[in-house]
Amino acid sequence: MDLTVNAMWFSIALVFIIAAVSKIAIERIMLDPVYKPRPPVVNSVSLIRLVLTKGLRAMICDQHRKLGSVFSVSFFGLHKVTFLVGPEVSGHFYQGLESEISHGNTLEFLVPIFGKEVGFGVDITTRTEQMRFYNEALKPSRLRSNVDPMLKEVEVSTNLQSEYRHDYIPSIILTPLSGLLLQDYLAKWGQHGVVDLKHEFEQLIMLIASRCLLGTEVRENMFGEVHTLFRELYNGMGLTSVLFPYALTLANRRRDKARVNLSEIFTKIFRSRKRAKQVESDVLQNLIDAKYKNGRSTTEAEVVALIIMLLFGGNHTSSLTSTWTGACLLRHQRSLTAVVEEQKQIIRKYGERIDYNILLEMDTLHNCIKDALRMHPVEPMGIRKVHKNFIVKTKEGTEYEIPRGHTIVSPVLYNHNLPYIYKDPYVYDPDRFSPGREEDRVGGKFSYTAFGGGRHTCVGEAYAYMQIKVIWSYLLRNFELKLVSPFPETDWSKLVPEPKREVMVSYKRVAA
Ligand code: HEM
Repeated sequence: MDLTVNAMWFSIALVFIIAAVSKIAIERIMLDPVYKPRPPVVNSVSLIRLVLTKGLRAMICDQHRKLGSVFSVSFFGLHKVTFLVGPEVSGHFYQGLESEISHGNTLEFLVPIFGKEVGFGVDITTRTEQMRFYNEALKPSRLRSNVDPMLKEVEVSTNLQSEYRHDYIPSIILTPLSGLLLQDYLAKWGQHGVVDLKHEFEQLIMLIASRCLLGTEVRENMFGEVHTLFRELYNGMGLTSVLFPYALTLANRRRDKARVNLSEIFTKIFRSRKRAKQVESDVLQNLIDAKYKNGRSTTEAEVVALIIMLLFGGNHTSSLTSTWTGACLLRHQRSLTAVVEEQKQIIRKYGERIDYNILLEMDTLHNCIKDALRMHPVEPMGIRKVHKNFIVKTKEGTEYEIPRGHTIVSPVLYNHNLPYIYKDPYVYDPDRFSPGREEDRVGGKFSYTAFGGGRHTCVGEAYAYMQIKVIWSYLLRNFELKLVSPFPETDWSKLVPEPKREVMVSYKRVAA
């Protein structure tokens, strides 16, 4: 009997407590104009099957449809990851102050690769100044002089030498690459043959980088060595190294050794230039000459780290984009005809010459690269950590508060395919960026984020377009090309997704 009475009183008390708490909560919502609800939450366990069977994109699509453009995924109640879908809710992600939103420790694994003197190894003030050095070194007025050396590399790499190459030579036969072998290899495109674009562009971009970024010493005397070391450093970005960057694994030890050897090479160049008071026109020189606001010059170790970071940011991204552009163009006859026609028109106007201003006139080619990158972004997802609560407003007008501690994700790949921004988003259609359509502009500032945006926007965008245009304008002018392997699928197992397997292209040199 006593038990029943107690249970009754307990139930009544509970009802009162719940009512009181709800009243306070409702009053807070009604009275506090600043109060905003948190985004809807979905449990990660319920999503695992979908992610494993259909992939991350399908999961985002599914939740976007069910929950709207802002939703959180809870990992066992311990950590929440909030997805921000679409340009309307992406402003703070890209523009928020570093003290409020930053990469946090998400890129910690890059510190042993780049060095503790740059990027995520230094405080934000130093990093901002270092980004200024890059911006200075890569500004259009400096880039102009790089067109000729770039073109020279493409010509040398594809020009007929003594032999014809009819068949594709698997790269494995040619690696490890000694400098001479590599240059011989690249000099033998000949009259016709078949190549793997992915492989060719990786080499070509490295050659261009060694000439324009690193300078004569590397390009002329130690290209092969630097290329091999750089590859070893790049291979240190496997899953284990990303998760445990300081573990004593074989991959990490190889990575560290390659870093030490690269550092020795660049340090020698740094010292020899200083000793001989030699001044070159490459980006390395700009970094050697750079000065912090307080007048301090960059140190040897900083220059080494800065140049490694630049190679990392620029090489793989550019070679993959060149490859995707090729695959898209050679798959879509309409676009291919349009870019070839554009080259003919430009030749009629300027002759065979290509310079910085002429490259700027290649709008059709520009849009072809841009749409390839829209469909195949090298960074399919941007990630940041929230240090201070902030509010987002969806395009329907709903406001949510994203609290401190959340990880936030901008799903670039998904955003690039939103049908209310891009017409027929899964169709390769470079004209979508032409005057009159300009779908990325109409959609708002962060509709197109293949190069990031806001505070961490890519400093190498102009350089990247320039080198990809140099390569493709040269190829389109001099070769008939055909994609002979199937259109590549994406290999999502890589940290930077890339075309799966080789991208085989047959070529025939056209008569001058
Ligand atoms: C098609 C080629 C390229 C693509 C798609 C690309 C893409 C990107 C993206 C998405 C970011 C932003 C990363 C973030 O928000 O966390 C970025 C940053 C960066 N990129 Fe590029 N990039 C390319 C070429 C280059 C080149 C050629 C260079 C240098 C020569 C370069 C240097 C950098 C650097 C230094 C940053 C860091 C900026 C910062 O943290 O403030 N990139 N790039």
